[in-house]
Amino acid sequence: MTGTRIGLIRGDGIGPEIVDAAVRVLDALADLAPGSRGWDYVEIDAGADTYRRTGVACAEADVRRLRDEVDATLKGPVGLPDVRTPDGTEAGVLGGILRTGLDTYANVRPVRSWLGVPSRVRAKEVDYVIVRENTEGLYASRDKGVGNRWAVTDTLLATREGTLRVARKAFAIAAARRGAAADGVRRVTCVDKSNVLRSHAFFREVVTEVAAEFPQVELEYRYADAAAQDLVLSPERFDVLVMENFLGDVLSDLGGATVGGIGLCPAGNIGDGAAYFEPVHGSAPDLAGRDRANPVGQLLASVMLLDHLGHVDEATRLRRAVSSVLARGAVRIETDGTVTGGARAVADAVVAALRD
Ligand code: IPM
Ligand code: MN
Repeated sequence: MTGTRIGLIRGDGIGPEIVDAAVRVLDALADLAPGSRGWDYVEIDAGADTYRRTGVACAEADVRRLRDEVDATLKGPVGLPDVRTPDGTEAGVLGGILRTGLDTYANVRPVRSWLGVPSRVRAKEVDYVIVRENTEGLYASRDKGVGNRWAVTDTLLATREGTLRVARKAFAIAAARRGAAADGVRRVTCVDKSNVLRSHAFFREVVTEVAAEFPQVELEYRYADAAAQDLVLSPERFDVLVMENFLGDVLSDLGGATVGGIGLCPAGNIGDGAAYFEPVHGSAPDLAGRDRANPVGQLLASVMLLDHLGHVDEATRLRRAVSSVLARGAVRIETDGTVTGGARAVADAVVAALRD
């Protein structure tokens, strides 16, 4: 019998260091679980370095393997500034290829504060989830914008099916949580600019329709500009937020900033037939090989992966171990997001906490 099959994309820059840290921690978890059959890793070659060597960032056959041959995938950050396509855009970025290719329509981005982690933006208790639509919105225009020397346009796509499915995902997540930190109310906030954009008004209409299927969850609306302000000033009132792709990209980085930086933030790209988990941050090539890389986002992405695969006990143990390491100051996240000792030191501390 085989164990759980986990796809692994090590990525570029600090990717290999922080994915190694995650693998060490996952293996330690399996060793500690009586009767565990462990994890079978399926390594997939993808990213900027892959593009440089092969001319594609991820081969089509490998996208199929990520869909058909693994239970879920742990992906490191990808991209290198000097690896570009002929049109000048970054070549090694996988967002378009994997999100569309695997139809992972919900980008689930938990944002929470941790004891022991300083933030330059003073926030109260932060614990909410941004559900970013992941296959359409403005980024449906990725690689497809039209233009000439004088004018360029990108089109925002909102389909009924696409909005229904991501809205259902957001409500299901809210139904399974304990509500907002401030008042314990299970709440979905639909974030849009429906006062300006027809596509966003449509998104709001469809979200409203889905709310009727989840009477235990309250629905509220916030215009995106006002939401940006509230996410800084009163984050504790949020529980789950659902929004169009581009808005979700921007506001999830804003949210990360309020809890010590996106270096601490994980993301799950989740569809009905595949899922992959990654840190929200990029590959920080200038930090690679210097023992400064912070693997916490990657470790929390591993927690999400375990939860997704139903390994709830292991997920809980890993989340607690990371939390205790941060709270005790066993590793220190600097305000610039780096860590002394880097990914290896954090993995050592987390493995020690798991064994305690
Ligand atoms: C993210 C990233 C990607 C995105 C980039 C790297 C293409 O910013 O996952 O948030 O825009 O979706
Ligand atoms: Mn982003």
